Amino acid sequence: MEVIIQQDYEQMSRTAARIVAEVLNTKPNAVLGMATGSTPLGLYQELVRLHQKEQLDFSRVTTFNLDEYVGLTVNHPQSYHYFMHEHFFRHVNVPAQNINIPSGTTSNYPAFCEWYEKRIAECGGIDLQILGIGSDGHIAFNEPGSSLTSRTRLKTLSKQTIDDNARFFEHREDVPVYAITMGVGTILDARKLVLVASGGHKAKAIAQAVEGPVTSMVTASALQLHRDAIVITDEEAAADLTMRDYYQFIYAAKPAAPK
Ligand code: PGA
Repeated sequence: MEVIIQQDYEQMSRTAARIVAEVLNTKPNAVLGMATGSTPLGLYQELVRLHQKEQLDFSRVTTFNLDEYVGLTVNHPQSYHYFMHEHFFRHVNVPAQNINIPSGTTSNYPAFCEWYEKRIAECGGIDLQILGIGSDGHIAFNEPGSSLTSRTRLKTLSKQTIDDNARFFEHREDVPVYAITMGVGTILDARKLVLVASGGHKAKAIAQAVEGPVTSMVTASALQLHRDAIVITDEEAAADLTMRDYYQFIYAAKPAAPK
């Protein structure tokens, strides 16, 4: 796992965007895995800037989002469909037919989940998956206890996640209890993983994910099993990492590393 510690949120976002842009430059028809939440907002803003100012082209890109709340329609302001269109898709040129986001309103969830997995495979698999991390250590909505081989399925949100996400809703009771989410196994199948984390409230989860044991109680720890996982944090989210000096040393020395 590569750990990149940046001084602040803006730098973290720019570094993550540069990695996405590099993938698109080498593979213009890449399949991107998208994440929602407040953390990737800066990354999306930077990708939009690169599209508008530096011709970063998404015209051949296909996207798959990690998750969606069950019960929210695509037009609900807190749905992840709405989030993605508002913060990313309406500003760039991903063809509408190439955008895949789990349905929060299907009448048959098991069939939809199976279809979603099949669709990812038909598109050649995910080249780069963007991830956030929950304060309970989750990736996507793979809450503590999720199997590390899980696939796209329905998941009940943890109390911690409901509390964390209540800030986006008028009342805590409005936060959906269920979500449809890619599984940890689905995520580990992506060829490259980029996880972004910012702020002191993520420090414990980051330390557990990067330096703790691999455990279904911290599903982000499954990144340790992936051969190309990059964790990008700001200083605050890196605060509990015991090996932070070493990660910084590696990153600073990178261009000079022997091939
Ligand atoms: P956040 O959510 O970026 O809003 O903190 C992260 C997550 O739950 O994955």
